[in-house]
Amino acid sequence: MKKILAPSILAADFTVLGEQIKAASEGGAPYLHVDVMDGMFVPSISFGMPVMVSVRKCTDMFFDVHVMIEKPDRYVERFAECGADGITFHVEADEGHIAETIKHIHETKSLKGVPLKAGIAIKPGTPISAVMPYAADVDVIMVMTVEPGFGGQKLIPETIDKVRALRAFLDSEGLAVDIEVDGGISSSNIENIIKAGANVVVAGSSVFRGDIKSNVSELIGLMGEN
Ligand code: DX5
Ligand code: ZN
Repeated sequence: MKKILAPSILAADFTVLGEQIKAASEGGAPYLHVDVMDGMFVPSISFGMPVMVSVRKCTDMFFDVHVMIEKPDRYVERFAECGADGITFHVEADEGHIAETIKHIHETKSLKGVPLKAGIAIKPGTPISAVMPYAADVDVIMVMTVEPGFGGQKLIPETIDKVRALRAFLDSEGLAVDIEVDGGISSSNIENIIKAGANVVVAGSSVFRGDIKSNVSELIGLMGEN
């Protein structure tokens, strides 16, 4: 599986967002992780469409949009129009409608003219059995390694066991699906999480605190050869 670092702009300085994204890109990050929160599914509200539209103008990076919102299906077209390349939504926020939302995402094209990638996410307390029925239909499964809602939290160690179990399940089914991890990842635990089977790694504070470009290249170095 290709290893990909996805810096999360939630931890960026929004007064100089364009410059900080450029630094992350120069450091070698191919993805930009965009966290959308609605104050309902998670207690916090982050940012939405206008920010995505502005940022889309300043980079070609893959926009990995992580929607922490109720009924995510409502916004698939809007996020695509604002520049999303992939949309990952929470199974906990879309009960009874998950297969339809995945299909809807795949049927929608990005501004680059290609179908959106579809991802499903689980919170730390949700078992991997919640995503298993959809594993063959998605491009990425996100295992949250902190409770969604805020950046800068400490990784919950038990979530690494979920990553390991999920990779074993995907391998046993012959499915080459990305496993993305999100929350509390830094140079001190990234090697462990890759070893457990994750291949897409979100990093907010550990990228945007300090020298962004060198943080990115250090983390990519620790992820190992592609
Ligand atoms: C949390 C968000 C994360 C967050 C990660 O709900 O989904 O993407 O930005 O931030 P760090 O890496 O600081 O934990
Ligand atoms: Zn996220």
